[in-house]
Amino acid sequence: MYNNNPTLEGIGNIDESKQGDVFYKEQMESDSNGKQFYIESYGCQMNFSDSEIVASILSDIGFNPTKNAENADLILINTCSIREKAEDTVRQRLRVFDKMKNNRPGTLVGVLGCMAERLKAKLLDQEKLVDLVVGPDAYRDLPKLVASASDGDKGINVILSREETYADISPLRLDSNGVCAFISIMRGCDNMCSFCVVPFTRGRERSRNAFSIVAEATDLFEKGYREVTLLGQNVDSYKWENPETKEVITFAKLMIMVAEIHPDLRIRFSTSHPKDITDDVLYAIRDYENICKYIHLPVQSGNSRVLKLMNRTYDREWYKNKIDRIYEIIPDCAVSSDIISGFCTETEAEHQDSLSIIEYSNYSMSYMFYYSERPGTLAARKYEDDIPLEIKKRRLTEVIRLQNQISYNHNQKDIGKTFKVLIEGDSKKSDQEFKGRNSQNKMIVFPKKEHLKAGDYVMVKVNSASSATLRGELI
Ligand code: SAH
Ligand code: SF4
Ligand code: F3S
Repeated sequence: MYNNNPTLEGIGNIDESKQGDVFYKEQMESDSNGKQFYIESYGCQMNFSDSEIVASILSDIGFNPTKNAENADLILINTCSIREKAEDTVRQRLRVFDKMKNNRPGTLVGVLGCMAERLKAKLLDQEKLVDLVVGPDAYRDLPKLVASASDGDKGINVILSREETYADISPLRLDSNGVCAFISIMRGCDNMCSFCVVPFTRGRERSRNAFSIVAEATDLFEKGYREVTLLGQNVDSYKWENPETKEVITFAKLMIMVAEIHPDLRIRFSTSHPKDITDDVLYAIRDYENICKYIHLPVQSGNSRVLKLMNRTYDREWYKNKIDRIYEIIPDCAVSSDIISGFCTETEAEHQDSLSIIEYSNYSMSYMFYYSERPGTLAARKYEDDIPLEIKKRRLTEVIRLQNQISYNHNQKDIGKTFKVLIEGDSKKSDQEFKGRNSQNKMIVFPKKEHLKAGDYVMVKVNSASSATLRGELI
């Protein structure tokens, strides 16, 4: 999970090796119409989670997933618009699908997700091969759109909703290790961070029915899953009112409800916004062993003037106080961040403030980017993108270098300590080793022992560490 690659997209936390991941079904559940779909996902965890909803909707109309695009009757690409590079990657993939379509006429190609929402019908004009354009709130319309596209009518639905949460759709767990799963608890975002395209591509914020979340987590636990990540662009503003009792469920309350399903079900969550994370959330993390001691708390910039331009609604002091509060209430908590280098008008001194806040916060890791202007955003309309690319890149390199050093030191401090680790599967390099994470979200690799399997909890003593991974042994 440690990745310092500046091209990584999204609400953090998607392992870069997973970008463009292909989903396939674990089990065939529904009647097949003999047709196959292929889906590739980019961007944040939310997009990966949405692809599982799309897969569920398609499987209900008889489509089976395939890992091989060349065999597919329907090729879908679930896209991200967060930075220009993310969109460039998608356009490159469309060129590849174009060739496949030539070899297999009749194949339909659909663009889903944030790029579909941002570009709308323009996508159909710009990309001749695209048959379907479907925005993040319109996936229930896929069966209709696929049917009309099969008849030669290009289909588009990019209507954003104020209510849609797909609460009743049971996601098809695809490309899963059977241990960890994502659960979307809300959609959209009401924070108008000036650099960010998400409020435009995902629409207004809305929270999902809390009982449907608990039911989904319970079902996953019963199927053998041992970790759920509660997803939202700003999980701390989760708020759902029980229509019968009028009881308001906050994020802290929701986490506790999920944590109480079973002590062996781990809870993670992403992303927290510094302005909204409450002490109640911190107390819940402290009080429940199965709520992971890890908070992704993106700072974006360490300078108050830049934060104001970014419309983040907190300043440097406020952020530092939050960090103090986290370590005070949960001393063994790991904190990670997102940082943008070279935002409009950022001076060298202001860039230094970002470096010093990384040091102050002692992040275990960060996702780091240079500013990429997005059409239509507040920043694009109000501020000049005036930092030359070379300077953006140089500042980003300095940020990455510092964070790597801090991650290394953070990890070195774990040597000699013993952690409870949830086994996720074989390590990347060897089938003689397992990998799993501790509560602080650090990946630990250790030699296997008989009778242990993915989904088991084990105690592992760390005996070496790089800036990215810990290595240890079972005790
Ligand atoms: N909702 C999350 C973040 C979603 S986007 C939050 O508020 O923290 C993930 C990250 O992408 C952001 O935290 C930000 O660091 C980065 N990002 C967003 N827009 C960007 C842009 N225009 N240029 C560069 N990075 C951007
Ligand atoms: Fe974008 Fe800000 Fe919303 Fe995060 S909180 S998704 S950065 S607008
Ligand atoms: Fe996620 Fe990218 Fe959209 S980060 S919300 S897929 S713009």
